[in-house]
Amino acid sequence: MHNIIIFDTTLRDGEQSPGASMNTNQKIQIALQLEKLGVDIIEAGFAASSEGDFDAIAQISKELQNTKICSLARAVESDIKKAGDSIAKAKHQRIHTFIATSPIHMKYKLKISSDEVIKRAVAAVSYARTFVEDVEFSLEDAGRSDIGFMKDITDAVLDVGAGTINLPDTVGYRLPFEIYDMVETMAKHIGKRAIISLHNHNDLGLAVANTLAGITAGARQVECTINGLGERAGNAALEELVMAIKVRKDHYDKFDTNINTRHISPTSKLVATITGIQPQPNKAIVGKNAFSHESGIHQDGVLKHKQTYEIMKPKDIGVEENHTIVLGKLSGRAAFRDKVLSMGFDNLSETELKRLFDRFKLLCDMKKTVHDDDIRFIISDERLNKDKLYELKSVQINNCTGGLATATIAIVHDEQTYSDASIGDGAIDAVFKAIDRVTKQTGKLMDYQVQAVGEGKDALAKVVCKVKFGDAAFNVIGHGLNIDTVLASARAYLGALNSYLSMSENSPHDKHEV
Ligand code: KIV
Ligand code: ZN
Repeated sequence: MHNIIIFDTTLRDGEQSPGASMNTNQKIQIALQLEKLGVDIIEAGFAASSEGDFDAIAQISKELQNTKICSLARAVESDIKKAGDSIAKAKHQRIHTFIATSPIHMKYKLKISSDEVIKRAVAAVSYARTFVEDVEFSLEDAGRSDIGFMKDITDAVLDVGAGTINLPDTVGYRLPFEIYDMVETMAKHIGKRAIISLHNHNDLGLAVANTLAGITAGARQVECTINGLGERAGNAALEELVMAIKVRKDHYDKFDTNINTRHISPTSKLVATITGIQPQPNKAIVGKNAFSHESGIHQDGVLKHKQTYEIMKPKDIGVEENHTIVLGKLSGRAAFRDKVLSMGFDNLSETELKRLFDRFKLLCDMKKTVHDDDIRFIISDERLNKDKLYELKSVQINNCTGGLATATIAIVHDEQTYSDASIGDGAIDAVFKAIDRVTKQTGKLMDYQVQAVGEGKDALAKVVCKVKFGDAAFNVIGHGLNIDTVLASARAYLGALNSYLSMSENSPHDKHEV
């Protein structure tokens, strides 16, 4: 039996998806969930890219117990030092260094000879080995590289201690049979000297198919992301790879992974919530429609015998088939704790539990029935809004004629309450403008989504705001959950602001003069 090493790069390549930047707290939440899911290695970021990335990798390194933490570095001394320093506190460490090996990249991007590329690769791997035992080397754009050159550079980095050779199809150009041939040739050449890894991009929609073909040819590590996030069209989706290996055991009988597939759906939901990027409804495994049968003939078949139209069970990936009604108004804290534990949230502190219980009670006053999904969303809302520099105290709306509205906002900052009011085109616009006035920030709303959690008229509104503050080069995401859409929007906008302030180096917290 071969264990396929699952190398998750949601926090690095996944974060390179347009608009998917995350703050440190959000990255830690995802890393903890990935550990629960059972991934073997988490590529936590690219330490040299920013202080924020370095910090997030360092903090994740302290939090995780079992999962190996990997830090990415170009084949440059200063990058490798940052990568090594960022994972110094991790129990299990890896440095991943890379340089491009395709003619087009060497000629136009690097503008250096292939001999120089080998020299830099050898220097990078040797230096990385002074920090850690476990070094991965990537031949960037291997998919378009010359196989003879790939063998030469591989031999050179293996001689100085690389343990994993990654062969990325960086531009998602290759077809499955070509990846098979490339891996087969490289596997024969490398033999037992190293593990072969694949990192396929999805530009032609073939990332998962290419990765599976590579496993058959000898790859033993696969690089992937939750929901297939990643640069451009994304990377191979972890959930699709893992479920293909599991469902098609007849073909992959010699392969297994350490993934606990029942955590796939919660992990997918967490990543979608944090990044604000929802998988398309018909996305394999984790899309909203992945297990729903619309046609009468299919429904009839499924009712008679599930396997007529279902090749896997929803519960295998952690999807609840019925939304269990949880507790009611009269439920006590002990019952609430049991419920939360039974849903897999086993690492909540007493303070978190108390806050959650208070929110649960408030919800019971507003909603007739509280479902598992409501509880799940309250938990993620609490966790995601942990870094609260500004906290919403109250919102009051006056709707005027002609669509105009006035919002009066009170916000707590440094234990003091500040308030102000603003007029806007509708209640939500007025709320956002009033928040800007109180916090002396200028936010531009880039995206705004409202989703109902659960069913019925009393469903909670989950709002996701993507905002660009001031002249920042990045957007931030905020989340808000409330029975009232305006309040949920206010929380989401303020959440985005708190996230921005926690990420930006020149955070105005200390300069704040409201
Ligand atoms: O796509 C790619 O080639 C990469 C490398 C850094 C591994 O992301
Ligand atoms: Zn990539």
